[in-house]
This record gives sequence, structure tokens and C-alpha cells, in this order.
Amino acid sequence: MRIGVLTGGGDCPGLNAVIRAVVRKGAGVYGHEFVGFRDGWRGPLEGETMPLDVQAVRGILPRGGTILGSSRTNPIKIEGGVERIKENLETHGVDALIAIGGEDTLGVAKQLYDRGVKVVGVPKTIDNDLNATDYTFGFDTAVNIAMEAIDRLHTTAESHHRALICEVMGRHAGWIALHAGMAAGANVILIPEKPFDIDKVCEYVESRFKTRYSPIIVVAEGAHPIEGQMEVQTGDLDAFGHVRLGGVGERLAHEIERRTGKEARTTVLGHIQRGGTPTAYDRVLATRFGLAAITAVHDGDYGKMVGLQGTEIVRVGLDAATAELKTVPVHRYEEAEVFFG
Ligand code: F6P
Repeated sequence: MRIGVLTGGGDCPGLNAVIRAVVRKGAGVYGHEFVGFRDGWRGPLEGETMPLDVQAVRGILPRGGTILGSSRTNPIKIEGGVERIKENLETHGVDALIAIGGEDTLGVAKQLYDRGVKVVGVPKTIDNDLNATDYTFGFDTAVNIAMEAIDRLHTTAESHHRALICEVMGRHAGWIALHAGMAAGANVILIPEKPFDIDKVCEYVESRFKTRYSPIIVVAEGAHPIEGQMEVQTGDLDAFGHVRLGGVGERLAHEIERRTGKEARTTVLGHIQRGGTPTAYDRVLATRFGLAAITAVHDGDYGKMVGLQGTEIVRVGLDAATAELKTVPVHRYEEAEVFFG
């Protein structure tokens, strides 16, 4: 068989480990051939390929990013996109596809499968918010990077008697904020799932200062205050009407200073959380996903996504994976709240 592989959406540490496992088992054990599609769905859409064999995957296990490149191109939103993909797969003699990606990429995979393309999905996101898998690779690496950053913020916060805010990724789910915040002993953790009360946050800040220690607040980029609090001032908007004061972290610092009179600073970790070498946990999980995905293709079990349930790698329908986001449940947030203030 000739199998196409692509990586779509935001990159994350462990993508190369998946590609390596797919090719090593696929070529070495099953004798299949591979073709790499460049930059997510843009590859099959434009017919942009690269050679993908055992030689091409040598030495990539510890490397962050993806040797295939990535993009957020969505062929479903492009007129005639699906037909062009089908034509290009035929031109390149591709019998089946392995799509490694998040909600968007796997959503496209599902629609292609419904239109006759043989595809198997591998879940990926540092946000850990994909359904039907307990963990996604990249998450553990992101949490460890954020944890180390927060550890460092504690010491400088105390030297300067400041409140320090660390803004982490997570537009719709607060998994990174929750885990990094718990691991690094944050005094407050704010997540998108629970609108925060700025009065309560300021109370925590003030009570923490009374203990001689400085407060550390971890906030997910998608967290927001309860309605009516922290209104954006017109001065905070740029010429296009975009909020220019920055994200929620900057706005929080501004509001804490205004309300408590204490100095506050924000560190936005941004794409640092997505770059660099994966942790051991992510390398192993990504490798196991890659091995399971190529086995599913070899078995002809298409329309599936591999996932982690407990300690086992399972196959679930692509629709189960993309049906809804896996957000932080209330009881998990309550565990962290015990340590607030
Ligand atoms: O979904 C992964 C993610 O890293 C989010 O946490 C973040 O909001 C987004 O991607 C950033 O995307 P981009 O790299 O396109 O700015």
C-alpha cells in the first residue's frame, strides 16, 4: 500500500515521534510505502508532497515541530476542495491517509471519510481538550514548560513584592492552566470553563500579600470575568477595534493594580509552550499513537481515531473525537481551589 501522512493545525511536541512510528512500523513490519503531504490539508489540496521513508525519519524523535510542516487550511471551506484532494490522492497513488491533528483537522478527516477517502486520525493538541482520549501528546510538554516558568516567577515576585500573572494557552479549555498551576503552587488559577470574579481574585491577592509572600496567578488565555466586570476601556482598542492592552493576563494586571494598589506584571508564555523537544511521556504516547494508527490502516479499519483510554490505546470513531470539546470538569477545578489565596 501507499499511505499519505499529514500534520494539520497548530504544531505540538511529539508530532515527529508519531510520523517516525508510522513509517518505521509501516515500512519495516508491513512493507508499506509512504508519501508526506506538506503543511496539513494544503498538501493534498495543492498536491505538495515530500519523500517519507525510513531514512527521512531518522533522528527526528526528540525534535519539536513537524518535518511535514503544518497549516490551518480547511479544504471543506474551499469550493471544490474535497474533489481536488481526491484527485491528488489518486495522482500520487495514495491508497489511505493518516491525518494527525486537532479538532479541525480530524473534522476534515471525518468529512473526507464520509466521501469515500480511507483515513485514520491521530489526535494532537497541547490543549488536551479532544474528546475520546484521556490525553493528547504535547500537553505534558506544555505543562512542564509552564510549570518551570511559574516556579521562576515565584522567586522574582517575592523579591519585588509584586503580583505576577502567567498567561498560558487554552482558548476553550483550562487544562494547561490547571495542571501547570497545581504543579507549581499557583495561588489562583483562572480557566475558561469558570468565569472569574475579579473581587475574589483581588481578595486572594491581598490575603497573599499579608502572609509576606507574593501572589502568583495562572490564567488561561480564554478565561474571562463574570459579565459586567473588567469592561474594556475604549483606550484599550486599536484602530481596528481590537483589544490592544493585550490578552486577559494584561487586563488582569491592570485591574489588580487599579483595585489593590499593588504592583502587578504579566508574562505571556505563548508559543514557547508549543516549541522544542517533547517530554518522555509525550514521546512514548506519540509513538504508541503512531504504531496504533498504522496498524489500523493495515487492518483496513478506516474512519477511526486512535486514543488513550486508561493505559490502553483504543480506536474510536472520528465523529466521537470531534463531537464536543473535553473541558475541565468542576470537581477537578475544586481540587485546585483548596490551595487558592
Ligand atoms: O490549539 C492549540 C493552540 O496552541 C491554542 O492553545 C492556541 O490558542 C492556538 O493554538 C494558537 O494558535 P496560533 O499558533 O495559530 O496562534
